[in-house]
Amino acid sequence: RSAGIIGAPFSKGQPRDGVDRGPDLIRAAGLLDKLQGQGCAVKDYGNLQFEEVVDDEPVGRVKRVRAVGSANQRLSEAVQAVKRDGHTTVMLGGDHSLAIGSIHGHSMAVGELSVVWVDAHADINTPLSSPTGNLHGQPMSYLLHELQSKVPVLPNFSWIKPCVRAKDLVYIGLRDVDPEEHYILKLLGVKVFSMSEVDQLGVSRVMEETCDYLSDKVKKPIHLSYDIDAVDPSVTPATGTPVPGGLTYREAVFITEHLSQTGLLSAVDLVEVNPLRARTEQDLRSTVSTAVDLLLGCFGRLRQGNHSAGYRLP
Ligand code: ARG
Ligand code: MN
Ligand code: MN
Ligand code: MN
Repeated sequence: RSAGIIGAPFSKGQPRDGVDRGPDLIRAAGLLDKLQGQGCAVKDYGNLQFEEVVDDEPVGRVKRVRAVGSANQRLSEAVQAVKRDGHTTVMLGGDHSLAIGSIHGHSMAVGELSVVWVDAHADINTPLSSPTGNLHGQPMSYLLHELQSKVPVLPNFSWIKPCVRAKDLVYIGLRDVDPEEHYILKLLGVKVFSMSEVDQLGVSRVMEETCDYLSDKVKKPIHLSYDIDAVDPSVTPATGTPVPGGLTYREAVFITEHLSQTGLLSAVDLVEVNPLRARTEQDLRSTVSTAVDLLLGCFGRLRQGNHSAGYRLP
C-alpha cells in the first residue's frame, strides 16, 4: 500500500488562526521518512493553494461560506487525482470543514464508501441548525443523502453531490454533541460509539463492532476522518476545540491499527492540529507526534513490531 499526501493548509471553517500550519508541522515531525522506514511507498503532492475570496459575507449565520466552498472543490479534485494514481490518500488539515472535499473526491474516484469519523464532535450540523455558524461543525450534513432536504445550497457549494448514506457512517469518540446534532443522529439512526461506549465496551469491541457493522453486506473502501480532538487534551492539547474525557493515546492508536488490518483503508484525514493553541513546546510536540503515530498506524505499523516478508537473519 502506498500513501499519497495532500497538504491542505486551510483554517476558514473555524475562527482560530494556526490550524493552517498543520500540514507543514506534521511533515516536519518526520511523517514521510517514518512511513518509508516502515516499508510504505510515499508520494508527497505538496500543499494545495487556496484562492483568496473577497466579500465573503456570512450567509445566515454561516461564516466564510464561499472560501470553504472553493477550497473544498479544489481539495476534491486533488483527492480524485491522487486516488487515480492508486494511493491511499492522506489529507493533512487544516480544519475539519475539509472533510467535505476529501470525502466527496474519494467517493467520486472509488464509488460508495464507509466513513469512520473519529472525533469529540459529530460535525453534522446543518447550516440552519449550527449554533456557531462555523463550517467545521457541519461537513457531514453536506455529504449525507438523507439530509439534503434540510440543507440549502450555499454559494460555492453547488458542485457538492451528497455521496454517503447514513448507514455507512460510524462515529467514535463523541462527547460534545449539540442538541440539534443529537436529534439528527437519532433521526437517521447513525451508529455512534460515544466515549460512553468506549468506556463500556472497550476500544477493541468498539472496533470489532464498527467493522462488523460497516461490512454487513459488501465491503466498501473505508474513509477515516480523524479529528485530533478525539484524543484526550492531556495528550493532544494543541487543537481549537479541546474536550476533556477523550481517547487515551493507546485507544487512539488502536483504532488506526485495527482499521489498517482490514485492508480497506482508502483515504485518511488528519485534521485540527493547531500549534497556536499549544501553551508549551511540550504541548505542541505531544500533539504533533501523536498525529504522526496515528498515521503510521493507518499504514500498518504495529506495536508488536513489524518486519518485511523478505527479511532473513544475517
Ligand atoms: N458543534 C460545534 C459547532 O457546530 C463544534 C464543532 C467542532 N468541530 C471541530 N471540527 N472541531 O460549531
Ligand atoms: Mn472535533
Ligand atoms: Mn474487524
Ligand atoms: Mn471534527
